[in-house]
Amino acid sequence: MIKFNLNWPTPVVKDNKLFDNHSEILSAAIEYSGQTNDDQALQKTKGKLYHDPRIISLKTWMFDLVGEFVSNLNQNFWEKQSATIMDDIWSWSSKNYHNSLHNHPNCSWSIIYCVEPGESNQETGNGKTILYSPLPWGHHADPGLAYMERTFLEWHVLNKGDYILFPSYIKHEAMYGGNTPRTVIAANFSFR
Ligand SMILES: [Fe+2]
Repeated sequence: MIKFNLNWPTPVVKDNKLFDNHSEILSAAIEYSGQTNDDQALQKTKGKLYHDPRIISLKTWMFDLVGEFVSNLNQNFWEKQSATIMDDIWSWSSKNYHNSLHNHPNCSWSIIYCVEPGESNQETGNGKTILYSPLPWGHHADPGLAYMERTFLEWHVLNKGDYILFPSYIKHEAMYGGNTPRTVIAANFSFR
């Protein structure tokens, strides 16, 4: 057997977490939500959601999750460390928006937590968050390469309480349209 190092796997966590005070979390997320302009440009979240007491349980869970998962991932290299939040916790609640392709430079890990999916739909893809492979785009993919990152992109339609946790270098975007707002909370973390 020829020895090799697997250098380019990109771990993405998708799971579900519901809180007893989910309705409070939703009301806080709506209250502080960023807004979408007519030209679909996004404006920042209003105020400091981070300090709102309604999201303490969510915040505690997020820090524990990110700290534990990323520490485990790096257990051969460093001792368990705590995650630090970058900037603030953001919320987006909108009936119609496209958060266009971007990543989060200078951050380490990013999380998107779905508080209210609105009319997100797995079959139509409404409300989908798309994650793009960090490997070079447009390269010829035959069976010899196809399974290194499995796919060029993966998309997730998040239900109530679903979250995805991924490295912040992953480019991503999200699209939604419906009569009921889709509400998500997002945050970026680093380790120091
Ligand atoms: Fe983002």
